[in-house]
Amino acid sequence: MSATGAARRRLGVGLIGFGWLGQAHSRSLLRIPTHFPEREFDTELVACADVDAARRDRAVREFGYAAAVEDWRRVVEDPAVDVVYIATPNMFHVEQVEAAAQAGKHVFCEKPVGGTPEQTARAERAVRLAGVTSGVGYNYRWAPLVRYAAQLLADGELGTITNYRGRFFSMYGSDPLGPLSWRYLVEEGGHGVTTDLMSHSVDLAHMLVGPIARVIGTTETFIRERPLPSAEATHYGRGSADAPRGTVTNEDYASMLCEFAGGARGTFEASRTLIGPESQMALDAYGTRGALSWNLERLNELQLYRAADDLGTGYTTVFGGDRFPLHGSFAPGSANGIGFEDLVAIEDYEFCRSLALERPHRPGFEEALAWVSVQAALLRSAETGRWEDVVSLRLP
Ligand SMILES: NC(=O)c1ccc[n+]([C@@H]2O[C@H](COP(=O)([O-])OP(=O)(O)OC[C@H]3O[C@@H](n4cnc5c(N)ncnc54)[C@H](O)[C@@H]3O)[C@@H](O)[C@H]2O)c1
Repeated sequence: MSATGAARRRLGVGLIGFGWLGQAHSRSLLRIPTHFPEREFDTELVACADVDAARRDRAVREFGYAAAVEDWRRVVEDPAVDVVYIATPNMFHVEQVEAAAQAGKHVFCEKPVGGTPEQTARAERAVRLAGVTSGVGYNYRWAPLVRYAAQLLADGELGTITNYRGRFFSMYGSDPLGPLSWRYLVEEGGHGVTTDLMSHSVDLAHMLVGPIARVIGTTETFIRERPLPSAEATHYGRGSADAPRGTVTNEDYASMLCEFAGGARGTFEASRTLIGPESQMALDAYGTRGALSWNLERLNELQLYRAADDLGTGYTTVFGGDRFPLHGSFAPGSANGIGFEDLVAIEDYEFCRSLALERPHRPGFEEALAWVSVQAALLRSAETGRWEDVVSLRLP
């Protein structure tokens, strides 16, 4: 029974793709009861699919899945599965989403929901027509300090937002010996850093500032060949200098200047090959009465500038703590930090709550569609060299 006395809703979980994020979601679902005793649901790890036999074995032995199978269709078809989690390489998403939605299952798909804007649009249509609930892995939305930032902006505490900077600089591809994993291949990853990294940055901007009206941008691939991967290689691994090489087929870098529909101007950059920032998923919002900055590398700190009557107050640091909702479910007091996977646990908790309470869920595939509509304009602009309007890719 939950704290309200109502019976908890049972949610049978099927998961496809037991790699980094598949395991992160599985761990999160397993520990939700320890963080949220008043939850309205209980999850059961029913079935897991992965093409890798060793990972299937771990899923059963160490995570407690009742079954692990090679063919993902068996997970989707399992009558004990109510919700399908998808954490496979991007180009597999859309077929798996469509099958799950047609089978009447709710779907949580890791970002970006497909490897191309067209695939995301198909996925959004599939869940809409099937009437199932969708969730998408924009986990940085759930950082308690990002939610505080959103509240400050919504309440007008920083005045009118005139400028916004979003960036996601990661070094996972900075080593030219980093192996040619699926992320570098258009046929498995889809587009490159626009899909992998900038999707997060623009999604946060949508939440904080609102829709983007038009963009002008550019893309580039700086490291054009990489060693072919060994079977167990990840994108964080290292190949050998004498290994055979293959061609990188999507972009390492993307940037764009944009105009928000509300009038603010913004810039966005994403790179996987620069040297310096290691996981700088960061934002700066500047308003007529103040500013704020947040950076994943310092997830438990928000820089806040409240100008009020005196323009010279300077930035102050606000530490994360249990005064911000949900932080206290992980660590009490202030400045006892939470981490990356805690955001995944919050994300899974909120998604499962939406299913149990039968309420609409955000971010879902509508939010993924909003990003790819911007992405499509950026990719068009990189070809034409001109400003391009953002046009919704929503399918009828
Ligand atoms: N939200 C985030 O912060 C975040 C972070 C990393 C990855 N992701 C997303 O998660 C997804 C997975 O990324 P990852 O880093 O976990 O990748 P990964 O390579 O670690 O894991 C992918 C898994 O899918 C399995 N797989 C491949 N094809 C399959 C198939 N046809 N059927 C079943 N299993 C299959 C692989 O064997 C592997 O275990 C991607 O969409 C990625 O963009 C999101």
